[in-house]
Amino acid sequence: MQTVTTSAALRETVADWRTPPQRIALVPTMGNLHDGHLSLIRCARQAGDRVVASIFVNPLQFSAAEDFEGYRRTLDMDAGKLREAGVDLLFAPVDAEIYPHGHRNVTAVEVPVLSTMLCGEFRPGHFRGVATVVAKLFNLVQPDVAVFGEKDYQQLLVIRRMVTDLDFPVRIIAAPTVRETDGLAMSSRNGYLAAGERQRAAVLYETLSAIRDAIMGGLRDYGALEAEGRLRLERAGFRPDYVAVRRSADLLPAGASDRNLAILGAAWLGRARLIDNLQLGLSNG
Ligand code: PAJ
Repeated sequence: MQTVTTSAALRETVADWRTPPQRIALVPTMGNLHDGHLSLIRCARQAGDRVVASIFVNPLQFSAAEDFEGYRRTLDMDAGKLREAGVDLLFAPVDAEIYPHGHRNVTAVEVPVLSTMLCGEFRPGHFRGVATVVAKLFNLVQPDVAVFGEKDYQQLLVIRRMVTDLDFPVRIIAAPTVRETDGLAMSSRNGYLAAGERQRAAVLYETLSAIRDAIMGGLRDYGALEAEGRLRLERAGFRPDYVAVRRSADLLPAGASDRNLAILGAAWLGRARLIDNLQLGLSNG
């Protein structure tokens, strides 16, 4: 595996792979890699002839109140994992390479509506930062396919929407959420949990699963299910941002006739903000 830190070196290597043409698959990350990230690499290897992974802790998607400086940076360990997983090229740029004019007044990509609901309501500017950096990575790497995790379902939809609206010639692949044995979705943020909190952390997954089961059992009062879910989280010591039953296609509130649903939750447990979601398809009738 080759590691490059500049856009020029990245472009040069990728250009070498274009003749004869090879399919290039990109997996963007912020590092501190776990098995969830590595499952995306496996998807990428199946979808492409060459796999590029990027590691960049993107300042644009953190708000002033969020812990950008404290985000764990484990580049050497990450590079070892990526090499073992069969990545061909690691792009690990420094900040000035991505934002040469600084973070203010950056030319940005705004995906309306999807970016301001749910997590976007609690993290203003977050999805603008995500869409902007992913657009830049797409332009730098020019991948044929790019892999994103369903774990960050709203992010996945924001990127899909950006790709269709701005005509990026890239196919987006969604990879299923990888979980710990108790159901907790793997996340770099789980490292912020104290031992006692870690034991309770799977309650988020259990809460979303209970809502899914209730809907599968015929309940359609989504407002009541959301309120119950919040209460369950609060009782377990979480501070929920939201519990929501939405349409999986556009994340608008679900009505009784909607068949494809996403059940999403975001909640603080100690210092960690955990998010999770489940997809549910109801058969007609
Ligand atoms: P990061 O949080 O590092 O996640 C990188 C990718 O890994 C995302 O597509 C995310 O959905 C996926 N992922 C994380 N945990 C997962 C899990 N348990 N199972 C499956 N996939 C999982 O998401 C970002 O970085 C950034 O916003 C980024 C897209 C890189 C833009 O900066």
